[in-house]
Amino acid sequence: MLSLDLNYAMNESLAPCAGMREIAPLGERVDRCLADLRAGGPLKGWVGLPFEDGPAAEAAAFARSLPEGLRDVAVLGIGGSSLGPLAVYHAARHPHVLRPAPGDERSRLLHFLDNSDPDTVGSILEGLDPATTLYIVITKSGSTAETASQLLIAWARASEVLGESARDHFVFITDPERGDLRALAGRLGVRTFSVPPDVGGRFSVLSPVGLVPTAAAGLDPAALIAGARRVAAACLDAPLADNPAALLAAIAHLADVREGRNVHVFMTYSDRLAPVGAWFRQIWAESLGKPRAGGPPAGPTPLDARGATDQHSLLQLLVQGPPDKFVVFLDVRSRREVTVPALFEDLPSFGYLAGLPLATLIDAERRGTAMSLARAGTPSITLTVDDTSPASMGALFFLLEVATAIAGSLYGVNPYDQPGVEQGKKLACGLLGRRGFEEMRAEARNLEDRRSDDLVIEF
Ligand code: PA5
Repeated sequence: MLSLDLNYAMNESLAPCAGMREIAPLGERVDRCLADLRAGGPLKGWVGLPFEDGPAAEAAAFARSLPEGLRDVAVLGIGGSSLGPLAVYHAARHPHVLRPAPGDERSRLLHFLDNSDPDTVGSILEGLDPATTLYIVITKSGSTAETASQLLIAWARASEVLGESARDHFVFITDPERGDLRALAGRLGVRTFSVPPDVGGRFSVLSPVGLVPTAAAGLDPAALIAGARRVAAACLDAPLADNPAALLAAIAHLADVREGRNVHVFMTYSDRLAPVGAWFRQIWAESLGKPRAGGPPAGPTPLDARGATDQHSLLQLLVQGPPDKFVVFLDVRSRREVTVPALFEDLPSFGYLAGLPLATLIDAERRGTAMSLARAGTPSITLTVDDTSPASMGALFFLLEVATAIAGSLYGVNPYDQPGVEQGKKLACGLLGRRGFEEMRAEARNLEDRRSDDLVIEF
């Protein structure tokens, strides 16, 4: 179902970075990490999600119970509580397709707020009729400012239009016990799903966080789980040489520490898969960018890119810029059939395209890019999925989650914490005067006081 092509990283005659080929010495560390993952433990609950059918069945039953009149779904959340379901949804429904598939009465349009930008939040929520909208609110902590404000705005609008029955248009996905969203669910009588406490935000796409929006869209949440389960043994049990997740992690890690290639580019060659780039950027950055236990900070810088479009921008830097890049291509096998018509064939720029499937063109562009990178000495690997179905997405997410956990272990960092992200959240709460954040308010004020207007140029 998936393939991983390592030629431009591991084949001696094609890949110049010898340091990256010496993966065998990492075998024991990878084995220890895999044993540790299989054993479970704090925040490793995501490892077991491909083996649980219950949450997907519950999500599917919930979607079946929704009234037919609900045509739109607003997904309120941010970061790990938004990027995963957004990627699954746009893989299944192309981002440029704005209407539900004809004849598919269960299919609904999903709208991801994903930010606190007033333009986005305002235009999405104002454009939806609460009477025909389901609002899915996702926040594990139950306290993230962006999501809390999205919820308050959506709730005010929905209850103004719908009165008491607004509650039937909301569903909350949060910690089973902790946090203010859980408390609010009890107060309002809103239907809830739980994010398992031992599953962190960016590792939660296979939990109700990804399953409920997928089901609400009219897609099959069980397929997401089945896809992950299909690759679980290859990713969790196989030794390094046969393990795609471990190979990806080990090669990326060696690219950084041996070859100084600490910019890890994730380049998708399918617009349906482009949101996977943002999901990958989050899990790679937030899991790996932090101090090593008792050592200096670690962390590659992930950069997502979209092929073939970014061949006309980033590629120049990748080929001839500083030799600090390592590239992961994400490709898809089955594509829609669109053929270039045979027209104006006497002109050389058009003639060679006559009758060409666009799939062949984009494939040649990806291969040409990998070749030009190889010629310039920039290593790359190519991950290919069969299609963009929920099953393929489940497999892809699980593979990349395991790769992230292994990379965390190779870098010597804890992939499950995010003190840097939390600090920013706390400072914003301090600035906004949230109760309990007085210390952060003082610190934020201190930083503000040291700013100088002389360094702000207005023109
Ligand atoms: O991975 C993480 O922990 C974060 O990116 C969170 O998902 C993000 O900050 C949103 O947090 P929450 O789900 O608590 O609203």
